[in-house]
Amino acid sequence: MSELNSIALKILSKGKGILAADESNATMTKRLESVNILSTPENRLSFRQALFSSSSMSNCIGGVILYDETIKQKTSINKNIPELIQSVNSVPGIKVDTGAKILANSPNEKITEGLDGLRDRLKEYYKLGARFTKWRGVYNITKEHPSKLAIYSNSHALARYSALVQECNMVPIVEPEVLMDGNHSAQDCFTKTSEVIKRCFEELISHKIDLTGVILKPNMILAGADSNKKIHSKEVAKLTLKCLKDSVPIEVPGIAFLSGGQSEIEATENLNLINKENNTDFIMSYSYGRALQQSALKHWSKNLDDIEGTQKVFNHRAKMNTFAAQGKWSKELEN
Ligand code: 13P
Repeated sequence: MSELNSIALKILSKGKGILAADESNATMTKRLESVNILSTPENRLSFRQALFSSSSMSNCIGGVILYDETIKQKTSINKNIPELIQSVNSVPGIKVDTGAKILANSPNEKITEGLDGLRDRLKEYYKLGARFTKWRGVYNITKEHPSKLAIYSNSHALARYSALVQECNMVPIVEPEVLMDGNHSAQDCFTKTSEVIKRCFEELISHKIDLTGVILKPNMILAGADSNKKIHSKEVAKLTLKCLKDSVPIEVPGIAFLSGGQSEIEATENLNLINKENNTDFIMSYSYGRALQQSALKHWSKNLDDIEGTQKVFNHRAKMNTFAAQGKWSKELEN
């Protein structure tokens, strides 16, 4: 087993998943302001430190994706954040893209940037303790989109990123996200997501990526947020499994879904059904941002000193999703 493969398996084995706590300062400011909390480096650290020191970390959270600010911060007892994460047997990771910008010649689509100088930034993050990374390409569905131009250029960037990350002995999380925004059908989501993932792996293979040391972070197959033709969770699971079985090379050890605007319970229920029906060899787990943090953030915002209460809320969601990653969740467990 290669070193990269064992890192990927350490992160995702036994129902463990990933906590995506890599919101940029701009995104985190939006999240904090939505619950009337001032977005300062101290407040961002305080909330995140509460999550990373929760008791569920060691059994549920195999890896944490950090943002540049957080990986360089120290805890209140002067411990580095990556050390805190390692101390509970979880793996520190880092978001390395620098965001999605308007794609030239297709102004309603985005291209993710961050390749310039990446090799040197990766060396620095490795020294700080990171052993995996994240890069997100983003696509919207309309009649004309995603265009071939957007699919090809983002896939190419994901492959160049993955090659540099593996050169630096880290596992790349490859995240081609087809957004839920819009009124498209689940069938449209299935068709577009399949095209995006297939193209992405064609590029990864051209760039000689070791697929056994990659984690794919896809969206689930869902109808658009404004669609009036929502589909049942069982159908979500069926279409998601079919899409991944047809599009992902078998060498890939694990798939960790993003939550992408689903409610906490929806994201858990869908993951549970995917695992109940999983007829593939892929580990199917979670790499959730909002679906792991939303309730905890709400709780914390009411009393910033109630760390224990905040951790209790976070622990519950982490445990529910770890049950779901093994197909062992049920609604009754939520009470
Ligand atoms: P959500 O689970 O909130 O979609 O965030 C996951 C993520 O890391 C998006 O890049």
